[in-house]
Amino acid sequence: MSRRTRIITTPAPGGPDALKIETRELDPPGPGEVLIDVAAAGVNRPDVFERMGLYPPPPGAPEGLGLEVSGHVRETGEGVDHLRPGDAVVALAAGGGYADIARADMGCVLHAPQGVDLIHAAGLPETVFTVWTNVFDRARLQPGERLLVQGGASGIGTTAIQMAAAHGARIAATAGSEDKCALCRELGAELALNYRNDDWETALRESGGADVILDMVGGDYTARHLSLLNTEGRLVMIAFLKGARVELDLMRVMLKRLTLTGSTLRSRSKDEKAAIARAVETHVWPWIAQGKLRPVIDSVFTLENAAKAHARMDAMAHAGKILLTP
Ligand SMILES: NC(=O)c1ccc[n+]([C@@H]2O[C@H](COP(=O)([O-])OP(=O)(O)OC[C@H]3O[C@@H](n4cnc5c(N)ncnc54)[C@H](OP(=O)(O)O)[C@@H]3O)[C@@H](O)[C@H]2O)c1
Repeated sequence: MSRRTRIITTPAPGGPDALKIETRELDPPGPGEVLIDVAAAGVNRPDVFERMGLYPPPPGAPEGLGLEVSGHVRETGEGVDHLRPGDAVVALAAGGGYADIARADMGCVLHAPQGVDLIHAAGLPETVFTVWTNVFDRARLQPGERLLVQGGASGIGTTAIQMAAAHGARIAATAGSEDKCALCRELGAELALNYRNDDWETALRESGGADVILDMVGGDYTARHLSLLNTEGRLVMIAFLKGARVELDLMRVMLKRLTLTGSTLRSRSKDEKAAIARAVETHVWPWIAQGKLRPVIDSVFTLENAAKAHARMDAMAHAGKILLTP
């Protein structure tokens, strides 16, 4: 059986034009592995960092860009009991998702949730896994608490707002334009602030601060976050677009008994990712079936136009997820 696929590689780091389309003959699935005929792949900011040479893939990752796909199971390796060829699935991949055929570990392959188009479902795994493990697992967001989502109109942000709302939390979000703020409100944010124009820090302080903050900005936001968090508040870092090195007032951490945490998804072990996948199936998939969570799709490009998709993400022109279809 042929396993010929196109993949998108970056032979040399650079801008969107650094992306090259190449063809490979894949090996058969190894024990515990699944090959998927890709319906669509999600584009994520970590892919942009990888293209720029700033986020090297972990050892053993499939060749090429792409961390999440939807599609149909093509072949399963030894020991894969819960999936059959033809099953509609979504998967978190360690790489190689921008392709006709993608490889994933069985623990990271989930039956596609009810109530969402299979192409759009490609926008779920990376964001849902990331929000679950950070906002729910690590930061233990409780119903009634207030979550601040920085970057509320991002792929991660649009997912975080909806998941927190489904859980019964109150949400504040920031975004870079009025249209993006309107999207955050439509998704469930009670307060959406344009970080380019509004004094988001004062507005948040005057409206009750935050119990949990999901942050992808870092830099000078960090000290402001420690000041905004309520007693027993949790700051959870998933990226640092404004820089990783910051100065902190540890007295605030002690007096308010704050927790500062964070994580990266790609470096987690197979077992840890599989545990997140089971939690997602149990807790998050029902929210999709109930209409409380949907992937917010910005645009869909063909694989040949991956450079255009990356240029759109580089320009921060998008709101929600950008997808690629073979
Ligand atoms: N740790 C992990 O496991 C993990 C996993 C996946 C993603 N991530 C990270 O999560 C972030 C979001 O990923 P994504 O794929 O959803 O990317 P994305 O859609 O490109 O989101 C980037 C967001 O950053 C916002 N932003 C930029 N500067 C800001 C500022 N000064 N204040 C507030 N918001 C600001 C942008 O807001 P506007 O567009 O509104 O201007 C945009 O929404 C990325 O940094 C990514 O690396 C981490």
